[in-house]
Amino acid sequence: NNNFKIRTAVLTISDKGARGARKDLSGPLIKEMIENIGSSVVYEDIIADEKSEIKKALIKISDQNIADLILTTGGTGFAARDITPEATLEIIEKEVPGIPEKIRAETMAITPKAALSRARAGIRKKTLIINFPGSPKAVGECLESVIDIIPHGVKILK
Ligand code: MTE
Repeated sequence: NNNFKIRTAVLTISDKGARGARKDLSGPLIKEMIENIGSSVVYEDIIADEKSEIKKALIKISDQNIADLILTTGGTGFAARDITPEATLEIIEKEVPGIPEKIRAETMAITPKAALSRARAGIRKKTLIINFPGSPKAVGECLESVIDIIPHGVKILK
């Protein structure tokens, strides 16, 4: 059914963003791109790089069936506080390695630094969760590389 409208949650994960020290440009970019394919953004938040807070948000959105898709941005690199992939792995029930594989394989052609993102993807209940890096440039490139395959994946989860 092509009329199925994907409900998307956008989670910006950033210490600076959460305390208002940096304007979040990546969350709004995800929102614009995902709305362009006919998805609605039903949940948006900026949270600190705290594993417990990230897990709490991911669990709430999936277990309460708030969204079909959760797109996170930030916290996937090597900095001491970067913990988004670990938080994601601890709460997903099934991992979806092909999504980050496609993201890294395709965007490494744009910049080899794409290999420095530890982003993961997986499924909890009926919600697909995908991590993206934090910068607007990175998230734009990475989301572009998988945006066409997301609707089919979400549809078969229902
Ligand atoms: N992926 C793409 N496609 N384009 C980029 O510019 N930046 C990389 C990487 N992934 C980048 C990218 C860099 S420099 C880092 S440090 C990692 O994402 C982690 O980013 P994060 O810590 O903001 O999540």
